[in-house]
Amino acid sequence: MYNYPKKISTLAFLKYLSSPKMNILSFMDNNLKELGDTFCLQFPFNQDKFIVSKNPELAEYILKKNQINYNKSYLSSEGMGLYLGNSINLRNGEDWKRQRKLMQPAFTKKSIAELVDLMTEEIYSFMKTVPLNVEVDIYDLMHQLVFKIILRSLFGTDYNAQELDSINKLIIDAQEMCSKEIQHPYLKWWYILSKKRGRTLNNIEKIRKIINEIIQKRLNSNEQKGDILSILMNAKYEDDGKNMSREDLINEVLFLIIAGHETTANAMSWSISLLSHDKEEREKLIKECEDLGNKKLDWEYLIKPSHTSNVINESMRLYPPIWILDRAAVKEDFFGEFSWKSNTTFILYVYGMQHDDKFWESPHDFMPDRFNDPESKRKPFYPFGGGPRMCIGNHFSLVEMNLILRILYHDYEVELTHELPLADPIITLRPNKVLGKFIKKKKK
Ligand code: HEM
Repeated sequence: MYNYPKKISTLAFLKYLSSPKMNILSFMDNNLKELGDTFCLQFPFNQDKFIVSKNPELAEYILKKNQINYNKSYLSSEGMGLYLGNSINLRNGEDWKRQRKLMQPAFTKKSIAELVDLMTEEIYSFMKTVPLNVEVDIYDLMHQLVFKIILRSLFGTDYNAQELDSINKLIIDAQEMCSKEIQHPYLKWWYILSKKRGRTLNNIEKIRKIINEIIQKRLNSNEQKGDILSILMNAKYEDDGKNMSREDLINEVLFLIIAGHETTANAMSWSISLLSHDKEEREKLIKECEDLGNKKLDWEYLIKPSHTSNVINESMRLYPPIWILDRAAVKEDFFGEFSWKSNTTFILYVYGMQHDDKFWESPHDFMPDRFNDPESKRKPFYPFGGGPRMCIGNHFSLVEMNLILRILYHDYEVELTHELPLADPIITLRPNKVLGKFIKKKKK
């Protein structure tokens, strides 16, 4: 009765799952090459069908035109919901709309402009701690840096170094566990029996306790600060005039910490890696950074089109930190020749769309200037998703990434000590290895 796209054989899928070298990107690309831009997938022992697509028109339909019929799928809620509780990212329908309206003021241009000085300060003071002229793990450093930036932006100075360190470690563990639950759902029984799940839930409880203490401290002091926590604590729902409950506030803060740092650390590590392997593009970027001299970087300047922004966009086109978007149909629906029943899960393959030579010339090459062409705005490019659920922190992270690159390439030479990393697609698209050196430039 429903006309699903061509299904890949369960045997082929099982073979992929059992292969020690399973690489989900080549699995997707190979199937799409063979079956067209959309195919159907069914997990063994499960009746639910998945539609995988790199058709940008279908993506527009699901994310924008008929977004009302598409919720976040259980792929998000199973892993993240279990560990992180109910946050904006997992809410749907009216409940999501109400929450998004409440949280939006924390991410307006005005709110982010207020955070620019604090971000700048954090980057300079972090770079003072980085060992120079020796090989360091740049991915790890970017992780630590953006983690500090998101915590400062959320809590101002209301946390201490010890709290920061313990939250960081616990979060890394929780993220690893979320990834495993999403990647290997058939091992659920093992995670429960081996107490891995229980241990992670205990760790999350510890983070929640720290967040709760920071909130309580803020309430007791009655201080108003310009950070995200203050805005969220003061925000009131339009319908009943109430604030978020304490539990919801903790869930949202926890999700913002998670959403705001791994994605950004990936994008920065990819940008640095790509620049290290392209002298011409690197020199263009260095010139832009140096031409600015020691002028203070403010919001107005950071959001202007620039070569730095082009580098960031091009890095996220080649290596989108979130490489698939998931949705589930609320009611049955159709698009073009295909139709599907309610609850069908969609995997919109962002990585595939952003590498499709039907839309992007030389799609595997690093060519930041392609974003100078106004046509690029009409091409499939979804690093922050699309439609009303588009990333709430997109301006925040663009400003943050612009600042990081501009400060790094103004003050340091950044060198990778090996070949371009390989993409490691877990929940986000991580580079497998980013080792390199920072060398302080001599003052001119
Ligand atoms: C390079 C950095 C980032 C990337 C690539 C990124 C990407 C994304 C994407 C693709 C989505 C949409 C998911 C979907 O439609 O299913 C999303 C949602 C979201 N992001 Fe980001 N993000 C980044 C940084 C941030 C930052 C810095 C924050 C907050 C401080 C943030 C907070 C959120 C939130 C709250 C949502 C859920 C929005 C909703 O459901 O209404 N993100 N992000």
